[in-house]
Amino acid sequence: MYRRVRGALLAVLGAVSLVVVGPETTASSTVEKPPLAETPPMGWNSWNKFHCDIDEELIRETADAMVSSGMKAAGYEYVNIDDCWMAPQRDAEGRLQADPERFPSGIKAVADYVHARGLKLGIYSSAGTKTCQGLPASLDHETTDAASFAEWGVDLLKYDNCNNEGRPALERYTAMADALAATGRDIVYSICEWGANKPWEWAAEVGGHYWRTTGDISDRWGSMVAILDQQVGLEAYSGPDAWNDPDMLEVGNGGMTTEEYRAHMSLWSILNAPLIAGNDLRAMDAATLALLTDPDVIAVNQDWAGVQGHKIADSGDLEVWAKPMSDGGAAVVLFNRGVAGAQVGTTAAALGLPEARAYAVRDLWADTTVVTRSQVRASVPPHAARMFVVKPGRHGATAVASDVADDTGGYVEPGETFTARVSVANDGLRPVTDVRVALAAPDGWTVRPDEKTKIRVLRPGRTATVRFTVTAPATAANGTHALTADVRYRGGRLPGYGAVSIATRPVGTPWVSDLAPVSAQVGWGSLGIDKSVNGNPLKIAGVSYAKGIAPHAAAEVTYYLGEHCTRFTAGAGIDDETRNRGSVTFTVLGDGKVLAETGVVLGGQPAVPVDVNVTGVTELVLVAGVGPDNNNSDHSEWVDAKLTCEGVS
Ligand code: GLA
Repeated sequence: MYRRVRGALLAVLGAVSLVVVGPETTASSTVEKPPLAETPPMGWNSWNKFHCDIDEELIRETADAMVSSGMKAAGYEYVNIDDCWMAPQRDAEGRLQADPERFPSGIKAVADYVHARGLKLGIYSSAGTKTCQGLPASLDHETTDAASFAEWGVDLLKYDNCNNEGRPALERYTAMADALAATGRDIVYSICEWGANKPWEWAAEVGGHYWRTTGDISDRWGSMVAILDQQVGLEAYSGPDAWNDPDMLEVGNGGMTTEEYRAHMSLWSILNAPLIAGNDLRAMDAATLALLTDPDVIAVNQDWAGVQGHKIADSGDLEVWAKPMSDGGAAVVLFNRGVAGAQVGTTAAALGLPEARAYAVRDLWADTTVVTRSQVRASVPPHAARMFVVKPGRHGATAVASDVADDTGGYVEPGETFTARVSVANDGLRPVTDVRVALAAPDGWTVRPDEKTKIRVLRPGRTATVRFTVTAPATAANGTHALTADVRYRGGRLPGYGAVSIATRPVGTPWVSDLAPVSAQVGWGSLGIDKSVNGNPLKIAGVSYAKGIAPHAAAEVTYYLGEHCTRFTAGAGIDDETRNRGSVTFTVLGDGKVLAETGVVLGGQPAVPVDVNVTGVTELVLVAGVGPDNNNSDHSEWVDAKLTCEGVS
């Protein structure tokens, strides 16, 4: 039966390069750039949580909280005011002034307050006529505004891209860099042009200490993952005083689970991203604080090496990201972006480590160390990551790996019986004894071991497998159902994460928007059903559609066909609500194989007809890719999407 691995996409991307970024990748500055960001800057910014709802009280309280919470001790330093700090008019001399209601004491007083706590103050403007919120901004006022910032004691400028009048980015961002340099004050220059003009190729040269690589993050898993995907290949451009910025952290803002935020923090850390918290520091729970301040994780982010972590393996939902550390070790993130728990792994060799008899694997979040001969692997729950530093060494407990697999091909119909296998591998140097294996399924399912669940001795290099017969109830609902192993052994215990998808075969000629997808990953917002992502009626190039799905790119929406359908038809396009903006590539995958591709579809263009033979396909995936730019305005839609299947509904 078809195995759900998206094998076509499987690619091992090669070992981590240990080459230190040289002058050819961090081009020399034409602007005198003060070395203010030799490691990625750390701090806080008001935008993600507060948007325009800011005032000087918030900034003062945040500075206090940064100190009292331990964030400052962990390395966070910049307190950054984003958009909406300025008054709607410049003063009589043409200078920006603080909003008299929000910041009655003025920015200098706020800067003094922040400085008195050993912290630094950041501010915001746009390389346009107005900020993104319509307030006065700095295009053609660079000298005046930079002088004001310096006079107030500002230490960092985030310089946005709204209302830029279509003028060249290089010119606009250079003008501000020159103006900042002319003040003589040390001001970190954060370039925020959303990756629109490949800033990684020029922002360092015009004095930028870091630059946004993408559109805005939102507090959603899909947004975080879509931004992550846009970091691939940018590692060559990052180094001291020149960092790629995948946007600020959403950790603690409530839109993701703790495990999702842990993945966000792990990935941003290994990417050498500026760590700019975006939550309310005055009201953090312990879990949020722990995620933001883990010393081992921050140490990976702040490591000198100047080689940004990057993706070294990708098998669809499972990815390995790695970064060589300056002490010769390697940091690694094992990332599961899918909805089913799974084992993710790599090896010491793939991490670029020298040959050794054994390696110490430190789990940065759990604060444990195990010893492995070569494998670095873990069972990772859905939407989660594990993070390690690996180096030659022999001190620690024996590395044990668990895994849960099954013979279903990924899909089970209600009432079906199948075999699940729990495997336990000894990756270390010493035997593991008294192994006991259990498997749990959701309530109402039955699980029966087919063989002994105890293994007395598991020698190094050996894997033991225990089979279970599992039956899903006839009433099992569509969707992913977890199968969770509990593996105990002398001196240790670990979980194993697996899952099966319950799915029912479509019959007759259903609209796709009337079917429950097996999974839906979208780049922004949530999946629109018979509505646009903004909740409007579906409309492409002036034509309205009653039926269709609206997954904002980058998106993958998966449907189970169970070899039961013959034809998929739809129109692929971008909703008129973007006002002719956006660019998306649409792809139809059947069991991992490309069945149809539209090429780039632009906002305003009529829906491109898609008509695909899906005979024999188990799993249909509708992919909306971000097109040649970023995913701003990518309101992709599959309109009139319909299947032709066996049977009558
Ligand atoms: C843009 C930026 C955001 C934020 C807002 C403020 O969208 O990319 O990070 O600064 O503007 O209006």
